[in-house]
Amino acid sequence: MTPVIALSPADRSGNADEDYARQYAADFVERWDELIDWDKRAAGEGSFLYDLLRPAGAWRVLDAATGSGFHAAQLHKAGFDVTACDGSPTMVDRARRNFARLGVDVPLHRCDWQALDARVLGKFDAVLCLGSSLCHLFDREARIAVLKRFRQMLKPGGLLLVDQRNFEAILAGRFRSSGRYYYCGDTASVTLGELDESVCEFVYRFADGAQYRLRVCPIRPRQLQDELRAAGFRAPHAYGDFKPIYDVMNVDFIIHQAHA
Ligand SMILES: C[S@@+](CC[C@H](N)C(=O)[O-])C[C@H]1O[C@@H](n2cnc3c(N)ncnc32)[C@H](O)[C@@H]1O
Repeated sequence: MTPVIALSPADRSGNADEDYARQYAADFVERWDELIDWDKRAAGEGSFLYDLLRPAGAWRVLDAATGSGFHAAQLHKAGFDVTACDGSPTMVDRARRNFARLGVDVPLHRCDWQALDARVLGKFDAVLCLGSSLCHLFDREARIAVLKRFRQMLKPGGLLLVDQRNFEAILAGRFRSSGRYYYCGDTASVTLGELDESVCEFVYRFADGAQYRLRVCPIRPRQLQDELRAAGFRAPHAYGDFKPIYDVMNVDFIIHQAHA
Protein backbone atom coordinates (compact mmCIF):
# COMPACT_ATOMS: atom_id res chain seq x y z
CA MET A 1 0.00 0.00 0.00
CA THR A 2 1.27 3.51 -0.82
CA PRO A 3 2.31 5.26 2.39
CA VAL A 4 1.04 8.80 2.88
CA ILE A 5 3.55 11.20 4.33
CA ALA A 6 2.27 14.54 5.63
CA LEU A 7 4.84 17.18 4.77
CA SER A 8 2.87 20.03 6.29
CA PRO A 9 -0.02 20.48 8.69
CA ALA A 10 -2.66 21.08 6.00
CA ASP A 11 -5.41 21.52 8.57
CA ARG A 12 -3.95 24.57 10.30
CA SER A 13 -6.87 26.86 11.08
CA GLY A 14 -7.06 30.56 10.35
CA ASN A 15 -5.20 30.55 7.03
CA ALA A 16 -7.48 31.75 4.22
CA ASP A 17 -5.23 30.13 1.61
CA GLU A 18 -6.05 26.74 3.11
CA ASP A 19 -9.78 27.21 2.60
CA TYR A 20 -9.43 24.66 -0.22
CA ALA A 21 -8.95 21.91 2.35
CA ARG A 22 -12.34 22.74 3.90
CA GLN A 23 -14.04 22.86 0.49
CA TYR A 24 -13.02 19.26 -0.21
CA ALA A 25 -15.27 17.77 2.45
CA ALA A 26 -15.15 13.99 2.82
CA ASP A 27 -18.58 13.31 1.24
CA PHE A 28 -17.79 15.51 -1.79
CA VAL A 29 -14.41 13.84 -2.28
CA GLU A 30 -16.01 10.39 -2.05
CA ARG A 31 -17.92 11.35 -5.22
CA TRP A 32 -15.04 13.07 -7.03
CA ASP A 33 -14.33 10.12 -9.32
CA GLU A 34 -18.03 9.86 -10.19
CA LEU A 35 -17.80 13.50 -11.21
CA ILE A 36 -14.74 13.09 -13.40
CA ASP A 37 -15.20 9.50 -14.77
CA TRP A 38 -11.61 8.33 -15.29
CA ASP A 39 -12.22 6.48 -18.56
CA LYS A 40 -14.03 9.31 -20.30
CA ARG A 41 -11.55 11.84 -18.96
CA ALA A 42 -8.63 9.80 -20.28
CA ALA A 43 -10.35 9.65 -23.68
CA GLY A 44 -10.83 13.46 -23.66
CA GLU A 45 -7.16 14.13 -22.90
CA GLY A 46 -5.84 11.50 -25.30
CA SER A 47 -2.04 11.48 -25.55
CA PHE A 48 -1.70 15.21 -24.78
CA LEU A 49 0.47 14.83 -21.68
CA TYR A 50 2.63 12.04 -23.08
CA ASP A 51 3.23 14.02 -26.28
CA LEU A 52 4.53 16.96 -24.26
CA LEU A 53 6.51 15.02 -21.66
CA ARG A 54 8.19 12.26 -23.72
CA PRO A 55 9.90 14.45 -26.37
CA ALA A 56 11.12 16.72 -23.54
CA GLY A 57 12.65 13.70 -21.78
CA ALA A 58 10.50 14.60 -18.78
CA TRP A 59 10.27 11.29 -16.93
CA ARG A 60 10.43 12.42 -13.30
CA VAL A 61 7.08 14.15 -12.74
CA LEU A 62 5.53 15.85 -9.71
CA ASP A 63 1.72 15.87 -9.74
CA ALA A 64 1.37 18.72 -7.26
CA ALA A 65 -2.45 18.79 -7.07
CA THR A 66 -3.13 15.13 -7.55
CA GLY A 67 -6.67 15.15 -6.14
CA SER A 68 -7.91 11.56 -6.36
CA GLY A 69 -4.77 10.62 -8.30
CA PHE A 70 -6.04 10.53 -11.89
CA HIS A 71 -2.97 11.95 -13.66
CA ALA A 72 -0.46 10.34 -11.30
CA ALA A 73 -1.98 6.90 -11.95
CA GLN A 74 -2.16 7.42 -15.73
CA LEU A 75 1.45 8.58 -15.91
CA HIS A 76 2.69 5.79 -13.65
CA LYS A 77 1.00 3.22 -15.89
CA ALA A 78 2.64 4.87 -18.91
CA GLY A 79 6.09 4.38 -17.35
CA PHE A 80 6.77 7.80 -15.80
CA ASP A 81 8.45 8.17 -12.41
CA VAL A 82 5.66 10.06 -10.62
CA THR A 83 5.39 11.63 -7.18
CA ALA A 84 1.91 12.75 -6.10
CA CYS A 85 1.08 15.54 -3.64
CA ASP A 86 -2.05 17.33 -2.51
CA GLY A 87 -2.84 19.56 0.43
CA SER A 88 -6.30 18.17 1.14
CA PRO A 89 -6.30 15.25 3.61
CA THR A 90 -9.55 13.90 2.13
CA MET A 91 -8.18 13.98 -1.44
CA VAL A 92 -4.94 12.32 -0.35
CA ASP A 93 -6.92 9.57 1.33
CA ARG A 94 -8.98 9.11 -1.84
CA ALA A 95 -5.80 8.95 -3.97
CA ARG A 96 -4.22 6.45 -1.57
CA ARG A 97 -7.24 4.14 -1.89
CA ASN A 98 -7.31 4.55 -5.69
CA PHE A 99 -3.60 3.71 -5.96
CA ALA A 100 -4.07 0.64 -3.75
CA ARG A 101 -7.08 -0.54 -5.79
CA LEU A 102 -5.21 -0.04 -9.07
CA GLY A 103 -1.94 -1.49 -7.79
CA VAL A 104 -0.22 1.82 -8.53
CA ASP A 105 2.94 2.29 -6.51
CA VAL A 106 3.34 6.09 -6.46
CA PRO A 107 4.86 8.05 -3.55
CA LEU A 108 2.03 10.15 -2.11
CA HIS A 109 2.41 13.16 0.18
CA ARG A 110 -0.03 15.47 1.88
CA CYS A 111 1.60 18.79 1.22
CA ASP A 112 0.44 22.36 0.76
CA TRP A 113 2.18 23.92 -2.26
CA GLN A 114 3.87 26.44 0.00
CA ALA A 115 5.60 23.59 1.82
CA LEU A 116 6.98 21.81 -1.28
CA ASP A 117 10.70 21.35 -0.71
CA ALA A 118 13.19 20.10 -3.31
CA ARG A 119 15.56 19.10 -0.46
CA VAL A 120 12.93 16.56 0.61
CA LEU A 121 11.40 15.42 -2.70
CA GLY A 122 14.30 16.14 -5.06
CA LYS A 123 13.95 18.01 -8.37
CA PHE A 124 11.65 17.06 -11.22
CA ASP A 125 11.66 17.20 -15.02
CA ALA A 126 8.04 18.33 -14.95
CA VAL A 127 5.55 19.71 -12.44
CA LEU A 128 1.80 19.37 -13.07
CA CYS A 129 -0.85 21.51 -11.40
CA LEU A 130 -4.01 20.41 -13.19
CA GLY A 131 -7.77 20.48 -12.72
CA SER A 132 -7.94 24.31 -12.36
CA SER A 133 -6.31 23.85 -8.96
CA LEU A 134 -4.24 27.06 -8.89
CA CYS A 135 -7.51 29.03 -9.01
CA HIS A 136 -7.97 28.10 -5.36
CA LEU A 137 -5.56 30.94 -4.62
CA PHE A 138 -7.32 34.31 -4.68
CA ASP A 139 -4.29 36.51 -4.23
CA ARG A 140 -2.01 37.29 -7.19
CA GLU A 141 1.11 37.48 -5.02
CA ALA A 142 0.23 34.13 -3.40
CA ARG A 143 -0.13 32.54 -6.85
CA ILE A 144 3.21 33.97 -7.98
CA ALA A 145 4.85 32.67 -4.77
CA VAL A 146 3.44 29.18 -5.44
CA LEU A 147 4.52 29.31 -9.09
CA LYS A 148 8.02 30.24 -7.89
CA ARG A 149 7.87 27.27 -5.53
CA PHE A 150 6.94 25.03 -8.49
CA ARG A 151 9.94 26.49 -10.38
CA GLN A 152 12.22 25.59 -7.48
CA MET A 153 10.97 21.99 -7.73
CA LEU A 154 12.06 21.83 -11.39
CA LYS A 155 15.44 20.98 -12.85
CA PRO A 156 16.85 23.78 -15.07
CA GLY A 157 14.71 24.00 -18.21
CA GLY A 158 12.03 21.77 -16.61
CA LEU A 159 8.43 21.92 -17.73
CA LEU A 160 5.43 23.27 -15.83
CA LEU A 161 1.89 22.42 -16.90
CA VAL A 162 -0.78 24.42 -15.13
CA ASP A 163 -4.37 24.65 -16.29
CA GLN A 164 -7.52 26.57 -15.50
CA ARG A 165 -11.19 26.76 -16.27
CA ASN A 166 -11.71 29.12 -19.16
CA PHE A 167 -12.60 32.21 -17.16
CA GLU A 168 -12.26 34.41 -20.24
CA ALA A 169 -15.39 32.78 -21.64
CA ILE A 170 -17.06 32.34 -18.25
CA LEU A 171 -16.73 36.05 -17.37
CA ALA A 172 -18.13 36.89 -20.82
CA GLY A 173 -21.25 34.85 -19.99
CA ARG A 174 -20.14 31.88 -22.09
CA PHE A 175 -19.79 29.16 -19.45
CA ARG A 176 -20.02 25.69 -20.88
CA SER A 177 -19.24 22.29 -19.48
CA SER A 178 -19.17 20.05 -22.50
CA GLY A 179 -18.70 16.91 -20.40
CA ARG A 180 -15.78 15.91 -22.64
CA TYR A 181 -12.95 17.24 -20.47
CA TYR A 182 -12.11 16.93 -16.77
CA TYR A 183 -15.70 16.54 -15.52
CA CYS A 184 -16.98 13.73 -17.69
CA GLY A 185 -19.30 11.81 -15.37
CA ASP A 186 -22.96 11.63 -16.32
CA THR A 187 -24.45 11.48 -12.82
CA ALA A 188 -23.77 15.13 -12.03
CA SER A 189 -24.17 18.56 -13.61
CA VAL A 190 -21.91 21.56 -13.16
CA THR A 191 -23.51 25.02 -13.15
CA LEU A 192 -22.45 28.47 -12.02
CA GLY A 193 -23.42 30.06 -8.71
CA GLU A 194 -21.99 33.44 -7.69
CA LEU A 195 -19.86 35.04 -10.38
CA ASP A 196 -18.00 38.32 -10.62
CA GLU A 197 -14.42 39.41 -11.29
CA SER A 198 -13.32 38.28 -7.83
CA VAL A 199 -15.08 34.96 -7.28
CA CYS A 200 -16.57 32.12 -9.29
CA GLU A 201 -18.68 29.48 -7.63
CA PHE A 202 -19.27 26.11 -9.28
CA VAL A 203 -22.28 24.07 -8.19
CA TYR A 204 -22.01 20.31 -8.61
CA ARG A 205 -25.43 18.60 -8.52
CA PHE A 206 -25.69 14.83 -8.50
CA ALA A 207 -28.69 12.92 -9.84
CA ASP A 208 -29.64 11.85 -6.30
CA GLY A 209 -29.96 15.47 -5.20
CA ALA A 210 -26.60 15.86 -3.43
CA GLN A 211 -25.08 19.26 -4.07
CA TYR A 212 -21.58 20.67 -3.49
CA ARG A 213 -19.95 24.01 -4.19
CA LEU A 214 -16.41 25.12 -4.98
CA ARG A 215 -15.46 28.80 -4.83
CA VAL A 216 -12.41 29.80 -6.80
CA CYS A 217 -10.71 32.85 -8.25
CA PRO A 218 -11.70 33.55 -11.89
CA ILE A 219 -8.20 34.18 -13.25
CA ARG A 220 -8.16 35.16 -16.90
CA PRO A 221 -5.74 33.14 -19.07
CA ARG A 222 -3.64 36.19 -19.98
CA GLN A 223 -3.39 37.08 -16.30
CA LEU A 224 -2.06 33.61 -15.51
CA GLN A 225 0.49 33.86 -18.32
CA ASP A 226 1.62 37.16 -16.87
CA GLU A 227 1.95 35.54 -13.43
CA LEU A 228 3.98 32.68 -14.94
CA ARG A 229 6.44 35.24 -16.34
CA ALA A 230 6.49 37.13 -13.02
CA ALA A 231 7.45 33.84 -11.34
CA GLY A 232 10.41 33.48 -13.72
CA PHE A 233 8.97 30.98 -16.21
CA ARG A 234 9.95 31.28 -19.85
CA ALA A 235 7.90 31.04 -23.02
CA PRO A 236 4.44 30.36 -21.64
CA HIS A 237 2.22 28.81 -24.26
CA ALA A 238 -1.45 27.89 -24.04
CA TYR A 239 -3.67 25.12 -25.38
CA GLY A 240 -7.47 25.07 -25.39
CA ASP A 241 -9.09 21.75 -24.45
CA PHE A 242 -5.72 20.09 -25.25
CA LYS A 243 -5.52 21.54 -28.77
CA PRO A 244 -2.87 24.02 -29.99
CA ILE A 245 -5.35 25.96 -32.12
CA TYR A 246 -8.63 26.90 -30.49
CA ASP A 247 -11.32 29.53 -30.18
CA VAL A 248 -11.02 31.03 -26.69
CA MET A 249 -14.79 31.48 -26.44
CA ASN A 250 -15.44 27.83 -27.23
CA VAL A 251 -13.25 25.78 -24.94
CA ASP A 252 -13.82 24.56 -21.38
CA PHE A 253 -10.21 24.63 -20.16
CA ILE A 254 -6.95 26.42 -20.93
CA ILE A 255 -3.72 24.49 -20.33
CA HIS A 256 -0.50 26.51 -20.00
CA GLN A 257 2.95 25.12 -20.54
CA ALA A 258 6.09 27.03 -19.48
CA HIS A 259 9.76 26.34 -18.86
CA ALA A 260 11.86 26.96 -15.75
C1 LIG B 1 -10.25 20.78 -8.58
S1 LIG B 1 -9.20 19.69 -7.67
C2 LIG B 1 -8.28 18.95 -8.98
C3 LIG B 1 -7.70 17.61 -8.59
C4 LIG B 1 -7.04 16.83 -9.72
N1 LIG B 1 -5.84 17.50 -10.21
C5 LIG B 1 -8.01 16.62 -10.83
O1 LIG B 1 -7.86 17.27 -11.89
O2 LIG B 1 -8.92 15.78 -10.71
C6 LIG B 1 -8.04 20.83 -6.95
C7 LIG B 1 -7.02 20.18 -6.06
O3 LIG B 1 -6.04 21.14 -5.69
C8 LIG B 1 -5.70 20.94 -4.34
N2 LIG B 1 -5.17 22.19 -3.78
C9 LIG B 1 -5.76 23.41 -3.81
N3 LIG B 1 -4.98 24.32 -3.20
C10 LIG B 1 -3.87 23.65 -2.77
C11 LIG B 1 -2.70 24.04 -2.06
N4 LIG B 1 -2.51 25.31 -1.66
N5 LIG B 1 -1.76 23.11 -1.80
C12 LIG B 1 -1.94 21.82 -2.18
N6 LIG B 1 -3.05 21.38 -2.85
C13 LIG B 1 -4.00 22.29 -3.13
C14 LIG B 1 -7.00 20.53 -3.69
O4 LIG B 1 -6.81 19.88 -2.45
C15 LIG B 1 -7.63 19.65 -4.75
O5 LIG B 1 -7.30 18.30 -4.60
